[in-house]
Amino acid sequence: MTAPVTITVRKNGSLLVTGDVLLLDHEGQPIERPAGKPNMALCRCGHSQRKPFCDASHKAHGFIDPPDAPGTVAP
Ligand code: FES
Repeated sequence: MTAPVTITVRKNGSLLVTGDVLLLDHEGQPIERPAGKPNMALCRCGHSQRKPFCDASHKAHGFIDPPDAPGTVAP
C-alpha cells in the first residue's frame, strides 16, 4: 500500500506536496518534477520565477498567510 498524497500549507510559504502525484499543466501535459526531489513545493504567493514551483521568492516579497488560511491563529 502506498502512502497517501499529502499537501501541507506552509506558514507564510508554499504548498508542500508529498507522495506519488502527477502534476499537469493547463493542457493536461505532465510537468516534470525537480530532479532528485521526492517532494515538491508549489508556489502560492505568485512571485516564483519557476512556477508552479516555489523558488523561495515569497520570503523576499514578504508573503504572509491570509488571516483565514488553514492553521492561522487569530491574533
Ligand atoms: S510560495 Fe514560495 S515563491 Fe511563491
